Amino acid sequence: MAQAIQSRGPVTGTAVTTKKRRKFFLLDLYGTAVGKKYAMAISGIMLVGFVLVHMVGNLKMYLGAEDFNHYAEFLRELLVPILPRTVVLWLLRFGLLAAVGVHIHAAMSLTRLNRKARSVKYQSPRDYQVATFASRTMRWTGIIVFLFVFWHLADLTWGFANNVGVDAADGEFVRGDAYGNVVRSFERVPVAVLYIVANIALGTHLFHGVWSLFQSMGWNNPKFKKWRKNIAIAVSTLVVVGNVSFPIAVLAGIVGK
Ligand code: HEM
Repeated sequence: MAQAIQSRGPVTGTAVTTKKRRKFFLLDLYGTAVGKKYAMAISGIMLVGFVLVHMVGNLKMYLGAEDFNHYAEFLRELLVPILPRTVVLWLLRFGLLAAVGVHIHAAMSLTRLNRKARSVKYQSPRDYQVATFASRTMRWTGIIVFLFVFWHLADLTWGFANNVGVDAADGEFVRGDAYGNVVRSFERVPVAVLYIVANIALGTHLFHGVWSLFQSMGWNNPKFKKWRKNIAIAVSTLVVVGNVSFPIAVLAGIVGK
């Protein structure tokens, strides 16, 4: 406001062009609460898409080591020979990383905006009609999922968190043996429990996230309220049931070496 008053030209006289530099329109939009909500919703759609596809891809575990590792290799070989090996995978990784960055930044700045706009606490219940627990815990489930992903990469991609290589034939972490690494990791009960807890947190986060993204994108016609709720339930249930099934299947000996 103060800035707007300062940049206003003289009251009388001919029009004066101000030197205020125009931002790229997307950055301008991101400067508004509505823009941040769009950013959260669009990055959220990308992340939900990844989580769903990742879960479906992981179902290959039930077909055995060869199929699972073949799928991992297929991801590295996407669009070969049009592009060199792993290029598409890296592009997808950068896209995912950007989505995570935007999602977290938008969430933090929206929280800041909300706090500034409302110094007095809500006196009546907020718009928590659908997911009271899920909506109230968004920040915490988000932090749990974020920390989990870091640990998960350290466990299965970089191989230093859980030392799964110790149980491998040559005692080394085997980068190309995704199946063996998953099995060796999930055979450890505390690790299996960690994956289960993290995925329940993820499901809770997804439930409210999917519900609210319809609102943020303006797809909130009251006629489809039931659909929105059903889609949110379906997506979060699919992801949780699929992902939780893997550690349980390993511990139960259904999936193994
Ligand atoms: C129990 C469920 C899960 C299993 C069995 C699983 C398994 C795997 C495996 C085998 C890899 C590849 C490791 C490698 O060879 O580099 C991987 C990568 C990854 N996973 Fe999971 N994952 C699970 C859940 C999740 C969840 C819930 C998320 C996110 C919320 C997630 C995010 C990632 C990411 C970001 C990568 C790295 C992808 C890449 O850089 O190629 N995973 N996961």
